[in-house]
Amino acid sequence: MKNELTFAQLSDPHLSSLENVHWSDLASKRLLGYLSWRKRRRAEHRSEVLESMQRDLRQTAPEHLVITGDLTHISLPDEFRQARDWLESLGTPGDVTVIPGNHDAYVEVPWEKSFAHWQPWMVSDEMPESNRQTPSSETVFPSLRIRGPVAFIGLSSARPSAPFLATGRIGADQLERLGEILELTRRQGLFRVVLLHHPPVPGEEKWRKRLTDADSFCRVIARFGAELVLHGHRHRAVQSRIEIPGTHVPVFGIPSASSSGHQPERAAQYYLYRVGQSDNTWKLDVAVMSHVTGQNRFSVTQESHLEMPRQSA
Ligand SMILES: [Fe+2]
Ligand SMILES: [Fe+2]
Repeated sequence: MKNELTFAQLSDPHLSSLENVHWSDLASKRLLGYLSWRKRRRAEHRSEVLESMQRDLRQTAPEHLVITGDLTHISLPDEFRQARDWLESLGTPGDVTVIPGNHDAYVEVPWEKSFAHWQPWMVSDEMPESNRQTPSSETVFPSLRIRGPVAFIGLSSARPSAPFLATGRIGADQLERLGEILELTRRQGLFRVVLLHHPPVPGEEKWRKRLTDADSFCRVIARFGAELVLHGHRHRAVQSRIEIPGTHVPVFGIPSASSSGHQPERAAQYYLYRVGQSDNTWKLDVAVMSHVTGQNRFSVTQESHLEMPRQSA
């Protein structure tokens, strides 16, 4: 097995345009989301910033890319199709891993008109044939994709919520299987990266936007361990941690990949990671790549190096 991997995370591209949306598509909560897009999000999320990030990613050339949700605004079938075209331009399903965000489950939409379009970028390397027949959030997540020394474990916290709420929930079934996968991949000696859309550390997110089972998630991480947890949703950089016996797990959240940066703390970023190892230690290099407003380019604004014990050793 190759003992190094470089990968990147981007999040919350909210890449679709609602310019040509018909009023008849805007029943229920979607109307609120549409008005929010017209008032604020249309100026905040810019395709030229996302294109600039994509050009930069071609230069930095990570071996794998993870996208932590919110590709759409209001979960319209046409937005899922636009996002699929974008995914195809980013890389093959084997090289890009996607999990959904709350905006991708804004209202209930049948799988065939929504996540079916992204399924190749979301499913596990090995998915049981029975689950392929009837794919759903319940059968696809948690996903497990192993690349070199890294296990990418994808969760879905995306569920429709009431108007004015943007909460998420993982649920008991996913959490139980998450524990099993964390144990399995620990025994395999892999560097375990858990991906979810909502910030998982209790108390760090506003009540109306929180992960409602964050406590349960942290208990699973404390019991089975993980090397890194990555999320989106907050549209700003978050560097946090989950305490586990004897050590802690770093938790990173990043701004939207398309943010034009009217508010400097929300300017678009992506993170570049290099995972390496020695006998008993994981070595993780992290580079924060930030959009330079007005210059259509990205530059390194922070670099750090972390070491953590290999729990299988
Ligand atoms: Fe978002
Ligand atoms: Fe979100």
